[in-house]
Amino acid sequence: MSSPDLPVVEFVLTIEVYNDRTAFEPDDLPASYRGPYWEGRHIERPLSPTVDAARQATDVERPWEAISGLMFTDHDDFSGTLSFTDQSMAEQWYLDRTTPEMLLANPVLTLYFEEKLAEMDEFEAISYEDARERNRPARADRAFIDALLEEYFDEDEADEMLDLVDVRTPEEIGQPLDEIVLTQQQEGEIQKIVKAIEHREYLAQIGLREIGKLLFVGPPGTGKTSVARALANKLGLPFVEVKLSMITSQYLGETAKNVEKTFEVAKRLAPCILFIDEFDFVAKTRSSDEHAAIKRAVNTLLKSIDEVSLIEDEVLLIGATNHPDQLDSAAWRRFDEIVNFPKPDVQMRADILEIVTHRMEIEDFDPHGLAELTEGLTGSDLRLVLREAVLEALTEERTTLTQDDLVQAVKEFEERDTLKNLDMMSDDNDALVAGGAEHDEHSHDHDH
Ligand SMILES: Nc1ncnc2c1ncn2[C@@H]1O[C@H](COP(=O)(O)OP(=O)(O)OP(=O)(O)O)[C@@H](O)[C@H]1O
Ligand SMILES: [Mg+2]
Repeated sequence: MSSPDLPVVEFVLTIEVYNDRTAFEPDDLPASYRGPYWEGRHIERPLSPTVDAARQATDVERPWEAISGLMFTDHDDFSGTLSFTDQSMAEQWYLDRTTPEMLLANPVLTLYFEEKLAEMDEFEAISYEDARERNRPARADRAFIDALLEEYFDEDEADEMLDLVDVRTPEEIGQPLDEIVLTQQQEGEIQKIVKAIEHREYLAQIGLREIGKLLFVGPPGTGKTSVARALANKLGLPFVEVKLSMITSQYLGETAKNVEKTFEVAKRLAPCILFIDEFDFVAKTRSSDEHAAIKRAVNTLLKSIDEVSLIEDEVLLIGATNHPDQLDSAAWRRFDEIVNFPKPDVQMRADILEIVTHRMEIEDFDPHGLAELTEGLTGSDLRLVLREAVLEALTEERTTLTQDDLVQAVKEFEERDTLKNLDMMSDDNDALVAGGAEHDEHSHDHDH
């Protein structure tokens, strides 16, 4: 492991430089450095480079011990502040040891050392703009998001809010985009959106505003939610998720207002992704004789969707539904791109199996063979199959699987699926008799 003195010196130096130049903003600080300094929605100057702050920012357990042996460092016992007795010595020491990756993660120092770096072979290609581009903006920090939510929703509403919206930072998203297998159309749409966000000023200039509202349609478990989240992770944006089914009669009076507030929050967090799951809910409430307050909330939602824009507000809107057939034209026309999430074909299934198992040990692993056996299964089903195989092997104290374990797990999954689709009242069904589901010839013929 690299020595802990370098990150601590970098931290103290960054804080000193940041305090000296008022033109720096929180977005210039490496994201991990901001953690200790949030006060509500603000980071107030001057920042104090204390031992505690250094520990939180750098993950070095004993920051003062890490740098106390260096000639140019000092420590105030009383305030716990770290400092340099000779800043130019500290700067030179840092420049002799830093790496391009470290600098690229630190906009403050790339700007501060700009002229020096330009003369150093190894660093000449590093620019402040690149570092800023890579650094997560302060608005995507958990502390900022929590403070903002608190400001918008007072305590009484907090519970309802938690049911209705969920905000994640890009790091809080588990599955990155490169671990999701996409169809070509999906790849194409994602490329377009990434470009649109990159060039939004140009799009505004030429007056192209009808962009940035996507609808993901497809059966359950085909990756709609995962792709929307992974996009936030890839773009480094906060992810605001609205669960429409939570618009229930439970909190009638406030719901329409909270829908409005959710959009305001999204605009305040922008650039961000606003994800509206279960979009078919909209259609259901419009056609049925729902409570007037729910209808009001849904109308507010549709109006808010009309008023939000990627180009003006930097909010990318993604809706998702399992039931595109239930959407009326009023709902459809609000989206400018429809992205299809079909059940995966045989090649995609093989790729998904490959990705999901990349950290597992499997003897004779043949993803193509398994893909042939799993027609009709979704990505989510395949994950379940693998989980079952892993757990099954664990009951035999094994952590190395075999292809056979996986084939077996597929069979069991299909039996489970048979039970799910079973008509429980039917007389002549073996599976309803204990032991019936054990027979191999009973394996269920999937969809095709
Ligand atoms: N194409 C895929 N590649 C990799 N993993 C996938 C794929 N499709 C689904 N999965 C996995 O299956 C699980 C469920 O997917 P997800 O929740 O995104 O589906 P969904 O389409 O949103 O379903 P629902 O309509 O029920 O909300 C996730 O763990 C996801 O990673
Ligand atoms: Mg989903």
